[in-house]
Amino acid sequence: MCGIIGYIGKGEAAEVLINGLFRLEYRGYDSAGIALIADGDIFVRKVAGKVKELAQMTSGQLPHSHIGIAHTRWATHGVPNDINAHPHIDCRGRFAIVHNGIIENCRTLKRFLEEKGHKFISDTDSEVIPHLIEEFYNGDLIAAVKKALNQIEGTYGLAIISLANPDRIIAARMGSPLVIGKGREEYIVASDLAAIISYTDQVIYLKDGEIAEIRKDSIRIESRELGLVTPEIEKVTWTLKQIERGGYDHFMLKEIYEQPIILRDTIRGRLNYEEGTARLNGIADYIDDLRDADRIIIFACGTSWHAGLIGEYMIESLAGIPVEVEYASEFRYRKPVLSQGSICIAVSQSGETADTLAALREAKRQGVPVLGICNVVGSTIARETDAGVYIHAGPEIGVASTKAFMAQVMAFALLSLLLGRQKRLSLDEGREIIEAIRKVPDQLSQLLKVLPDGIKAIARKFKDHRNFLYLGRGYNFPVALEGALKLKEISYIHAEGYPAAEMKHGPIALIDKEMPVVVIAIKDAIYDKVISNIEEIRAREGIVIAIGSEGDEQLKKNVDYAIMVPQTLDHLYPLLTILPLQLLAYYIAVFKGLDVDKPRNLAKSVTVE
Ligand code: F6R
Repeated sequence: MCGIIGYIGKGEAAEVLINGLFRLEYRGYDSAGIALIADGDIFVRKVAGKVKELAQMTSGQLPHSHIGIAHTRWATHGVPNDINAHPHIDCRGRFAIVHNGIIENCRTLKRFLEEKGHKFISDTDSEVIPHLIEEFYNGDLIAAVKKALNQIEGTYGLAIISLANPDRIIAARMGSPLVIGKGREEYIVASDLAAIISYTDQVIYLKDGEIAEIRKDSIRIESRELGLVTPEIEKVTWTLKQIERGGYDHFMLKEIYEQPIILRDTIRGRLNYEEGTARLNGIADYIDDLRDADRIIIFACGTSWHAGLIGEYMIESLAGIPVEVEYASEFRYRKPVLSQGSICIAVSQSGETADTLAALREAKRQGVPVLGICNVVGSTIARETDAGVYIHAGPEIGVASTKAFMAQVMAFALLSLLLGRQKRLSLDEGREIIEAIRKVPDQLSQLLKVLPDGIKAIARKFKDHRNFLYLGRGYNFPVALEGALKLKEISYIHAEGYPAAEMKHGPIALIDKEMPVVVIAIKDAIYDKVISNIEEIRAREGIVIAIGSEGDEQLKKNVDYAIMVPQTLDHLYPLLTILPLQLLAYYIAVFKGLDVDKPRNLAKSVTVE
C-alpha cells in the first residue's frame, strides 16, 4: 500500500521516478507526487488522482536533477487531495519525505511540534516526519532522522532527501517493505521490485530497524540493533516482460491467461511419480513436524485465506491431520493458544501483508514453527518464516489476485499429497493424484480457448444486476467465496459466497427472479446434494448459472446457463472451477466500463492493519 521510490545517480531522476511510479501504481492510486533537488532547492509537484495525472501535469516541466523521491498514495489519514499527496516537506522546505505506513502517535507528535512552532498544512500522519527531522536537525542528517524515528510509533518505509545533503537519500524501514536496487553509479530505493527491475537485478532488501544512507556510488546501512551491517546483495529473477501487460487489455486478464504456465512452474521438479509423492525441498526439515502435528494452523487474508481453506480440506481428507484456518487479522488479536505440537502456515502472495506478518510473529512468540506459502521471494513473510514453499507465480500486478490463488491452491495440492503419502495414501493413489495434477495446466489452456465467448455473453446480460449469490460445497465452497470476492472487488456488485446447503438457513430469502446464483455443481462426492440446492433455487425462480463437469447433460437441462469444466479428482476441481468465475468477474467489470486493474478503494499488498 502506497508506492514509494527514490533515485540517486547519473541518470535523469524525474524520468526514473515517474516510470517507477507507473510500475508501483498497483500499490495505491489516489494521488501522486514527486520531489527533486535542483538549483539549490527542493522542487515539489503533487496532484490528486493517478500517476498519469502527475505525468501529464509535469510533462516537460520537471527540472534536471540526479536525486529525488516520489510517491503514489493509498490514503489512510486525510482524503486524497493535492495537499495530502506526498512528498511532504518541513516548514522551510529543507527536507522532503515519502512515506508508506502509519504513524500511530501522529496526534501527540503533531501537538508537540505545533507547540514548537511548526506549521502543518496537510491532514496526513506522514507530515510529522519532515517536521520532526527539522526539529532535531543540528547539522547531522542521519542523527536527526534517527531521533525522529525514535519518536515514531507505527510503521514506515521512508525515503528522505535534504537540501543540506543533496548527495544522498536516506531510506528507513519499520514494518513497510523497502528494497534498494544497485546499478552502475546509481541506486533506486522502492517499495517493491517492480520499480527497480528495468534498471538492475542487484538488490538489497532493507530489514526492519535499518537506515540506509545512499549515495550514487556507495551505501551504508545501520541497524538499530546491530550497528553497521554489510549490505547483502541478491540477484532478482523477475523479468521486465513479466511486469508488462504484453498486449492484454489488463494485467488481470494477462494473469488469468498465464495460469497454465504458472501451474507448470509451481509443480516443476516437485512431483515424484516413482514414489507417488511430492517433493517440497523448502520445507523438507519440517515434514516430520507437519506429519505428526496435533494441529496445522493456516493463517492468511482475503484470497490467500480462501486458498488456505481449500488447503484445510485437502490436508484433512488426504492426510487426516487436523487443520484450522484463521483470518490473520483475527488470530493476532484474539489471544490464540497454540500447543507445542502445533505448526503454522502463513499464506501470502505479497509476503508483506501486515496482518499475516503479525500473526506469524505471534505464533513464533509462542514458540511454534511457522512455514510460509509465498510468492514474492525475499519478502518479509518469506524471510521471517522458518521455512517455506515458493509458489513461483511471478509478479502479480492486477490488484485482484488470480494466478497467485491458483498457484497457492496447487501448493496445497502438493503438500497434501506429500503428507497424505506419509499418512494414508497408497502408492497407486499418489500416482493417480500426480497424473491428475499434471493434466491441470492443459485443461486450463483448453478452457481458456473455449470459455470466454460464453462467459462474455453471460457477463453482458448480468452486468447491471445489483446482487449475486455464489454457492459451492466441499472443496468448491472456498471457490464460491473467491468467485464472490472477485466480483465484488472489481465490479462493485454485491456478492455473497455460501456453502450451498447453508442457503436454506437464511440466504434463500434473497432469491427471486432478479437474483443470479452461481452454483458450482461438479460431479464430485456431493453432487446430488448440490443438485437439490439448485432445485430449491429454481423453485423460487432464481437464475442459475452453473459450473458443471463436462458430459453432465442433465445439469445443462436443469439450469439457465451452464459452464462446463473437464473432470478431475475432487480435490483438484478448485483449480478448474475458479477459472470461469475469474473470467465472469473480469468481463462484468469490463462491460461496466470499470478500471479492472485499479478498483476503487483497493491496493495491492496491504501493509497497514
Ligand atoms: C483479492 C486480494 C486480497 C489479497 C489479500 C492478501 O483479490 O488480492 O484479498 O489476497 O490482501 O494478500 P497477500 O496474499 O499478499 O497476503
